[in-house]
Amino acid sequence: MKEAGNKMKIMIKFLSSLFLIVIFWGCSDLQTDIPQPINKISIHVEGISDVSSPNFHGKLIKDSNWDVKQCQDCHSADYSGGLTNKSCLTCHTSPNGPEACNTCHGDFNSPGQIAPPRAIDGQFNTDYRGVGAHSKHLYTNTFGKTLTCLICHNVPSSIYSPGHLDSSPHAEVLLNHLASFRTITAPVYDPANLTCANTYCHGNFAFYRDSSLNNNYGVYLTDKMEGNNVTVTWNKVNQNQAACGTCHDLPPKGHKVFTDDPLRNCNLCHGSVVDGDGRIIDKSKHVNGLIDFN
Ligand code: HEC
Ligand code: HEC
Ligand code: HEC
Ligand code: HEC
Ligand code: HEC
Ligand code: HEC
Repeated sequence: MKEAGNKMKIMIKFLSSLFLIVIFWGCSDLQTDIPQPINKISIHVEGISDVSSPNFHGKLIKDSNWDVKQCQDCHSADYSGGLTNKSCLTCHTSPNGPEACNTCHGDFNSPGQIAPPRAIDGQFNTDYRGVGAHSKHLYTNTFGKTLTCLICHNVPSSIYSPGHLDSSPHAEVLLNHLASFRTITAPVYDPANLTCANTYCHGNFAFYRDSSLNNNYGVYLTDKMEGNNVTVTWNKVNQNQAACGTCHDLPPKGHKVFTDDPLRNCNLCHGSVVDGDGRIIDKSKHVNGLIDFN
């Protein structure tokens, strides 16, 4: 109710401003040396366009629980300006203008980067939970497949999709698809400690001799090959949580060891994934849910 009242007040203020503009405009027909007051009447307080001001429009929108629709009342439904003649689209040049997926999180200047860094609080630091290891999974990944948002949490199709701008303060991490593929126990995210446990990707996997593709029974030492199922902390980036040999031994438990210097040997049979020095040469084939055997 209070919100509706405020909106009403703003509307009345706006309409009376327009009324004044019309009157001044009429006068200026008679006396052309009177400056046109259209730029002097301000609906917004000063600083609406100034990123460093406490009155910056981004902050106002955040404080009203990300309600961008309220701006349509005057700036028109497609944000092109309407009665105000002040378009949002001059600065918000991504498709969909201010409703673009990179407006509130991701890279404001690059419509293709919609995940943090830049979290919703403007943070870039990987220690911050909203930023964490997004880049390592999506943009700067060097040895594993580029993931999709849905593996870890939902992704809305528009800003008004249910569950997107909800009342809970953080993203709800669900861990589906690749994260739960072939897992022995269900993956879990702990929002209090920001840890991911039991994910396929970090070694909660088993490949069984009985169901070996192409009857590769000879590679198995036991009835199965297993990863190390490590628990990792989302906001501890570059701290060796994903060093070679953490998610699975080299080779994994239950996999026959072929030489004393095993790492240099993997490429004999997994040559599309690693080279003779144990470097991953095709990240799209590693941590992709598939056995990549030459
Ligand atoms: C009651 C009508 C009204 C509403 C609602 C409204 N605006 Fe405006 N806005 C105006 C008018 C009129 C101007 C031009 C004069 C001024 O700066 O006050 C303007 C100017 C602006 C400017 C400056 C644009 C420029 O090119 O200089 C920004 C930024 C802006 N509005 C953002 C917003 C945002 C964001 C919202 C929603 C939170 C919003 N406005 C809601 C009427 C409104
Ligand atoms: C007006 C600002 C704004 C815009 C525009 C926006 N988002 Fe968000 N987005 C948020 C906020 C705020 C959150 C945190 C919500 C929460 O607390 O759960 C969020 C969270 C998310 C999350 C994390 C998972 C979740 O649901 O919480 C994803 C994924 C996401 N947004 C994708 C998108 C996509 C895709 C678009 C474009 C269709 C988009 N966002 C546009 C503000 C925005
Ligand atoms: C003068 C340029 C300019 C105009 C005009 C403008 N914006 Fe923005 N807006 C920005 C910039 C720059 C940012 C990002 C600031 C930052 O990096 O955090 C922004 C941020 C936002 C955000 C994200 C807020 C956040 O904290 O993540 C929303 C939503 C938004 N604008 C909506 C609008 C709407 C709606 C209008 C028109 C009514 C509008 N803007 C007009 C420049 C503009
Ligand atoms: C490897 C898992 C993973 C992937 C992949 C992933 N996210 Fe996230 N995302 C998270 C985690 C974890 C959080 C933080 C949850 C928390 O605060 O507890 C999060 C939070 C977010 C937030 C909220 C940021 C904030 O400031 O609170 C947004 C927005 C978001 N993700 C967008 C995306 C988008 C868009 C994609 C796909 C392009 C994506 N994420 C892919 C794990 C992931
Ligand atoms: C983040 C966890 C993780 C790390 C770190 C990791 N791996 Fe893997 N690796 C996996 C998973 C999961 C598989 C299971 C097959 C798949 O999904 O690609 C795998 C499979 C493999 C395979 C079998 C070929 C294939 O992809 O099917 C080789 C070889 C391999 N890893 C070598 C390495 C080497 C060398 C390193 C260090 C540079 C390494 N791994 C680091 C998770 C990891
Ligand atoms: C002599 C050939 C050979 C060598 C050498 C070899 N592997 Fe394998 N590895 C295989 C075969 C074949 C499979 C698939 C078994 C199946 O089909 O069930 C396999 C399966 C795996 C798996 C589990 C399923 C998958 O493909 O992701 C991992 C992980 C793995 N190998 C890692 C390694 C690593 C790391 C090395 C080097 C330290 C290595 N292997 C060396 C033949 C080999």
